[in-house]
Amino acid sequence: MSDDESAGDGTAPTPTESVWIDTTPETSYDPLSADRRVDVAVVGGGITGLTAAAELADAGEEVAVVESGHVVEGVTGRTTAKVTAQHGLIYDRLRSTVGDGLARQYAEANQRAIEHIAETVERREIECDFGRTPAYTYTDSPDRRDAIAAEVDAATALGLPASFVEDTPLPFDVEAAIRVDDQARFHPREYLLALAASIDEAGSHVFERTKALEIERGRLNRVVTDRGTVAAETVVVATHFPILDRRLFFARLYPERSYVLAVRASDVPTEGLYYKPGEPMRSLRTHVAGQEDLVLVGGEAHKTGHGDAPERYERLERYARKRFDVEEIPYRWSTQDYSTPDRIPFVGRAGPTSDGILVGTGFGGWGMTNGTAAGRLLADMALGRPNPYRTVYDPTRFSFSAVRTALKENAHVAKEFVTGWTDGLRADAATPAPGEARVVRHDGRPVGQYRDEGGELHTVSAVCTHMDCIVDWNDAEKTWDCPCHGSRFDPDGSVLDGPAVEDLPRRSPRD
Ligand code: FES
Repeated sequence: MSDDESAGDGTAPTPTESVWIDTTPETSYDPLSADRRVDVAVVGGGITGLTAAAELADAGEEVAVVESGHVVEGVTGRTTAKVTAQHGLIYDRLRSTVGDGLARQYAEANQRAIEHIAETVERREIECDFGRTPAYTYTDSPDRRDAIAAEVDAATALGLPASFVEDTPLPFDVEAAIRVDDQARFHPREYLLALAASIDEAGSHVFERTKALEIERGRLNRVVTDRGTVAAETVVVATHFPILDRRLFFARLYPERSYVLAVRASDVPTEGLYYKPGEPMRSLRTHVAGQEDLVLVGGEAHKTGHGDAPERYERLERYARKRFDVEEIPYRWSTQDYSTPDRIPFVGRAGPTSDGILVGTGFGGWGMTNGTAAGRLLADMALGRPNPYRTVYDPTRFSFSAVRTALKENAHVAKEFVTGWTDGLRADAATPAPGEARVVRHDGRPVGQYRDEGGELHTVSAVCTHMDCIVDWNDAEKTWDCPCHGSRFDPDGSVLDGPAVEDLPRRSPRD
């Protein structure tokens, strides 16, 4: 029986925050209140921005972190937090696409990121449940044994402590797995909130509820926000999706949403980070939560704007119930990742002539180590220090296979644009029932309507403010999601995720 066919009991939990956000205090850093001049401005308060800012503050720089909401509440607050250089079946592929030298740099950068987190936890005495654990990429298909064996060979050749195994601590059988030792797990918000506090205490600044709108280049670069301007010689853009489109990032980053359940079960494995590539992809890891252990069950990735989220949560629940002795599912949440054509993030100068503007993005679901490596690299670049991983992460790199992937993905975007404007938009007088949403045409213009459970109708323009694709309703998250480049908006049109920086204009119900 496939996972999709197996019977669940249909008791998917109601939406909650991630376990990381729910078990840590809210932050309350003041917004920017006046124009500022600092050494380095960092846009984005996730793992990349805070790692870079902490390194820079340690080096004596005055830094301002600008975050549109609250720090570590975006993608970093919704991760499964697997601290590993083992990123599924990647190294065999990288050896053939970018060569042994760059593949080795990628492996090293991520393995060193684990050691950096371990050293930081120890040096700053951060209580974040940091612990060493092996990582497994497994398959339950005899057809994929060879792929696992090839990945073991590649990872070993690149210096990772990898081995081929047929048993894991999971309470179900696997066909084969690659095991990589000396990986790690932690509570990402406990770790990163300590970094944010250290930045603040070092005389630098964390500004929350301060939305960066654009970056003006000049002798000093200026981050223009809705609260004032931060001027700095160097600007680090660590906003998940760059808020600027230099080098056409939007054409080389592909958004995917995925889902996580935190499951309380009697047979949670005592250790391990687990990843099953292919269809369906699954991600598993143990999280020690007080007296009880949880297993985080992730998967069901799909292009943003193309998913039936409630059904995907149900499929994850069925998967979990089939493999674990599930007692309760106290948390569920979703997240969004961006991937690059060659699966290596873009970290470095935003363009060949953009010395003072640096970006870090495209971590493809492996943001704990890639985000840490990116933060360190960006800090080194801002300080003019050497870093051995500049080449592998260089955003201006070029390869024919990456161009082929980019063309394919952009054909998808073009199709979305056309079908969004031509298909299925009814000139419908009836408004949605409570809890439902629809996109209709009013006077030829696409309008998104959502009626909340209390009966209030929320009406916004359905035209994405980034590049005019038509947004889709995401029923599980109650958001308008753009299928082209992944921007997301709340029911009243406020931007939740870029690349859009402008809200969807509100419309009156009759507009
Ligand atoms: Fe690019 Fe919507 S995110 S058009």
